[in-house]
Amino acid sequence: MSARHSVVLGCGSYLPEKVLTNEDMTKFVDTSDEWIVQRTGIQQRHIAAEGQYTSDLAVEAAKAALADAGLDVEDIDLIVVATATPDNTFPATAVEVQQKLGMRHGYAFDLQAVCSGFVYAVSTVDAYLRGGLAKRALVIGAETFSRILDWEDRTTCVLFGDGAGAMVMEAREGTAEEAGRGVLSCQLRSDGSHKEKLYVDGGPSTTQTTGHLRMQGREVFKHAVGMVTDVIKAAFEDAKVTADDLDWFVPHQANKRIIDASAKKLSIAPEKVVQTVALHGNTSAASIPLALDSIVREGKVKPGDLVMLEAMGGGFTWGAVLLRW
Ligand code: UT7
Repeated sequence: MSARHSVVLGCGSYLPEKVLTNEDMTKFVDTSDEWIVQRTGIQQRHIAAEGQYTSDLAVEAAKAALADAGLDVEDIDLIVVATATPDNTFPATAVEVQQKLGMRHGYAFDLQAVCSGFVYAVSTVDAYLRGGLAKRALVIGAETFSRILDWEDRTTCVLFGDGAGAMVMEAREGTAEEAGRGVLSCQLRSDGSHKEKLYVDGGPSTTQTTGHLRMQGREVFKHAVGMVTDVIKAAFEDAKVTADDLDWFVPHQANKRIIDASAKKLSIAPEKVVQTVALHGNTSAASIPLALDSIVREGKVKPGDLVMLEAMGGGFTWGAVLLRW
């Protein structure tokens, strides 16, 4: 089999209209704007409207990504949706998205790696494209975390938000190194011994309920920087580049303190670090494509730029994807 690589053709994102500020939250939970900003950097989050589902957010992001790539659903043969908040237990939200996009060919499936979902999905799609299982794919991170929050638990409900982001990826002949473009390295890890630190206390097989998000925030925080920097270093080594070569660092947007500490530990200059956590909160699998799209829309990302995506979340799962735009 001749070498193949995958490239990004376009991206897009979508945020629900309703904005919930920290100040708004003080009206129903014992918290303050000062505490939330100081501990997390979050100022506001978007909340899906009643009757607006994860698939609806995903469809809007997918349409924007297709428009950015100058393509139509007819050109796509695979959809992967990374989500921990599917519309229903089954069918897969990706199949709902396929249906809502009016697409009757190809195939679609969901991927569950919580906040690392987008990194896992890009890695999976890269492997499918290189392996010849698809030619052009929509890879989407979409979440309605507002639906699994315990709105009386101030330690978690202030942290998360809803949203979606998407990328169009295509298979190309040859290697990414030769082409000067495409996915260069994917590094994925998980360790189930940390399950109790971040989980949802319900599910179809256990409680037959959806459940609510539970997190030992300080415990997650303790592991985050080390885990994330390990996989990023592995990606740098794999692609034979250094932090100095990097143009854009697009981390999972959970907490400004984690992002700043990771960048500092890796000697990544602050101007290369993309931060949207203030405006979006933690949107789990949607956070990376939302952050990426924000700099693409500003025209900051140029062809050939070296971009690092990274995330860590429930499981624990963590990972990094290094690509050349
Ligand atoms: O995307 C998945 C990955 N998730 C993460 O990366 C989250 C990682 N963890 C974090 O970001 C931080 O641990 C948090 C932001 C969740 C919490 O920050 P912290 O500095 O670790 O605070 P803490 O949990 O140690 O709590 C400090 C205090 C506690 O009060 P006492 O026990 O010291 O009296 C909490 O009860 O802050 C209190 N507290 C709050 N106060 C006002 C907790 N939540 C709130 C709140 N408003 N919303």
